[in-house]
Amino acid sequence: MILAIPKETAAHEQRVALTPEIVKQLVKKEHTVWVQKDAGKNSSFLDASYEEAGAKIVDSAEELAKGADILLAVQTPEEKILKSLREGSILISFLWALHNPDLVEQLKKAGITALGMDSIPRISRAQNMDALSSMSSIAGYKASLIAANTLDKYFPMMMTAAGTIPPSKALILGAGVAGLQAIATCRKLGAVVEAYDVRPAVKEQVESLGAKFVEVPLEEENTETKGGYAKELSKDSQEKQKQVLHEHIKKSDIVITTALIPGKPAPLLITKEMVADMKPGSVIVDLAAENGGNCGLTKAGETVVENEVHIVGPVNLPSQLANHASVLYAKNMLNLLNLLMKEGEPELNFEDEILLNTTITHNGEIITPLLKG
Ligand code: NAI
Repeated sequence: MILAIPKETAAHEQRVALTPEIVKQLVKKEHTVWVQKDAGKNSSFLDASYEEAGAKIVDSAEELAKGADILLAVQTPEEKILKSLREGSILISFLWALHNPDLVEQLKKAGITALGMDSIPRISRAQNMDALSSMSSIAGYKASLIAANTLDKYFPMMMTAAGTIPPSKALILGAGVAGLQAIATCRKLGAVVEAYDVRPAVKEQVESLGAKFVEVPLEEENTETKGGYAKELSKDSQEKQKQVLHEHIKKSDIVITTALIPGKPAPLLITKEMVADMKPGSVIVDLAAENGGNCGLTKAGETVVENEVHIVGPVNLPSQLANHASVLYAKNMLNLLNLLMKEGEPELNFEDEILLNTTITHNGEIITPLLKG
């Protein structure tokens, strides 16, 4: 089995799919590992460490892809790699299949077995392979640091000879994995934190992190799908939500937004009018920037300043912590490989819920129920 790791070429991507530590473990299990030259350079893993771990360094992306039995990547690989993959070979990476029907068609036609890291079900048994969670946690942490760096105030209360500074107020909107990490990080930095999520089940988690949960009475009884994700709200509930949040946003120095609804644009939680009511110098970090933004003024990849409020729209935050993001992603991949491989060979057991949901295409067919409606 040749396992191959390309150099990531997507914009803003600094991570690498496998680290030398994980390569070492795979080589011990008698796999052959090929790593494209400089694949780990941007995440501080140099070719020499991969060679020491037992990998072969390969110069060209095409050569790497042609030889691969299993290609392991972070982002969907570039076209020249996809075209070079052999029929019957396996590709494992983020694929966002729901949003990329053309890619799914291409993989199907090419007879590639494609596993999407973003399609791993959010169940307890899959927690150690759940790259969405490991990467979201990094995003929540980094968003808090960006807020702290952008804000022209202290986060913690400061008692100094020159006077006492009150702590900054942070509001976290969306308390999934990223939001909970943002709460924890803002608390560690000393801010007073409030949080809101449309799923009432997270109230307890928010409070256990020492933050106050903002309550919004909604007309829906059930705001959560069977898979634990948020549902889109009715127009009336959206209005109610805006009214309550407006009052909290006005008083906040920092607002970190993380709200997403699978398969839909990010919900609009902060309008232009709300930004106009915020204190000058306040900071919004919008983690939903790449999905349309939770703030109406967000521009992905930019910082917009409106009414002296800084609205930061970061893109691919996990990549800004490329070393540790790669360490965690590589561990997620290893755990998925351990499930996939039986006695050194891949065995696609579709009776297994994880492999069934994660496999997008196999043998020219679509496998995952996620794409079958
Ligand atoms: P996500 O990234 O899809 O969304 C982020 C948060 O935004 C969610 O908490 C969602 O409820 C919230 N949201 C959506 N619309 C909103 C609105 N209008 N106003 C306020 N908040 C809004 O969520 P993530 O972090 O990917 O988690 C999704 C689900 O998966 C959660 O239920 C989580 O607990 C579950 N999960 C389960 C795991 C496991 O058991 N292995 C591991 C990780 C997550």
